[in-house]
Amino acid sequence: MTEIAKEHRLKLGLIRKCKERTFKENLGLLFLNLLLTVALLATPFIYIAWRGASRNVPNANKQPWIKFNDDPSTSACIAWESKENTTSWVQYGLDPGNLDENQTVIGFSGFMHVVNLTGLTPNSKYYYQVGYTEQPGGAFIPHVFGDIWHFWTAPATTDVPFSFLAISDTQESALGMHHHNRVARALARYKDDARFIINGGDVANYGQEQDSWDLFFKCARPYSPCIPFAFTLGNHDDMGTNQPMYRKYFSFNDPGEPLYYSFNYSMLHFVSIPIPWGNPSEFTKFGFMSWLEDDLNKSKDMKYKLVTFHCPLLSSGFFGRNRFLEENLHPLLDEYNVTLVISGHSHHYERCYMDGITYMVAAGGGGLMDPCHHRLPETQLVASHPHYLKIDCTTSNLTVSALTPDGVLFDQAVLGGIA
Ligand SMILES: [Fe+2]
Repeated sequence: MTEIAKEHRLKLGLIRKCKERTFKENLGLLFLNLLLTVALLATPFIYIAWRGASRNVPNANKQPWIKFNDDPSTSACIAWESKENTTSWVQYGLDPGNLDENQTVIGFSGFMHVVNLTGLTPNSKYYYQVGYTEQPGGAFIPHVFGDIWHFWTAPATTDVPFSFLAISDTQESALGMHHHNRVARALARYKDDARFIINGGDVANYGQEQDSWDLFFKCARPYSPCIPFAFTLGNHDDMGTNQPMYRKYFSFNDPGEPLYYSFNYSMLHFVSIPIPWGNPSEFTKFGFMSWLEDDLNKSKDMKYKLVTFHCPLLSSGFFGRNRFLEENLHPLLDEYNVTLVISGHSHHYERCYMDGITYMVAAGGGGLMDPCHHRLPETQLVASHPHYLKIDCTTSNLTVSALTPDGVLFDQAVLGGIA
């Protein structure tokens, strides 16, 4: 018997078997098939619903975070959010066993708490605890996150070595906060020594949604109470909505506060400017160019100048090189001998070099990583995995180290600054 005849006979046998089944048996098989099909189609929706449920942050209580409002050598701004409407009270001091200085906001100040500490001693490690009092003159009641944390003030002189960190694009992705959780645990290892941390924007994925910000602060808990933030506006934080949530958490609701700023830290001059998409209209919308030129001119004698903005000027990734920024921003950065530029936006790691300026993309803080399509002529190294930067600043050089969340060093550059 040929193979074809054998196959034909087998098929006939199967058809006969089907016909021999009772109507009840066939109905059972049909039901089973339907059940399997529904299960297959429902799986992605069940996964999305499970992801949604895992994003829920049941209450608004947030651990404190720190930013610099004025001179970081003598002041610091402590912020936190509470579920209850309470007063604001910060106890602080140089001895963790004796927090002998107080700054209290009397009267109910609400759910967002912002307390400015001034008159601090430069280059000192301060310890603090946040809480409230139920009535004027009452006892200190710790916030639900009532630990004693610490932060450093900046040196008063320009010759003290120090270290700081940089991340960008800490937003959630299809993997939830998996990447930022990993990076956050790595950053926490530096909380005793890192003087501040740059976040290059896209802090939250849905900049207009409270849940997204709650999720960021929940994940940043291991490091945010001890390492002051230096923020930069990303396109996901902006979302064309005049940044109400970004301002709530980083500018503290002052609608008139510009989203550009700078500060000096020992021999480093740090600048942040809002360029979320890299569009020409942003130069008008945020109006930073004349301020930037004036700021760089005033700081021209600082050994290192570091500028952050979200959209990269040079990138081998999804957004490519930005000709508008290259023609309209790079000449100014070049004229004032900027040492280093850190951006995000394109979710990968890259180090480029052009006209004496090191341009970096450090967008491995949380979001899904993007592939890189091609290398630019200026590219020194490109990679596509989660990462963070550790930057060591001395009077001799600025050493930028790129590390994976597991602490593996995969790139390092030593930059000179001005003589
Ligand atoms: Fe992003």
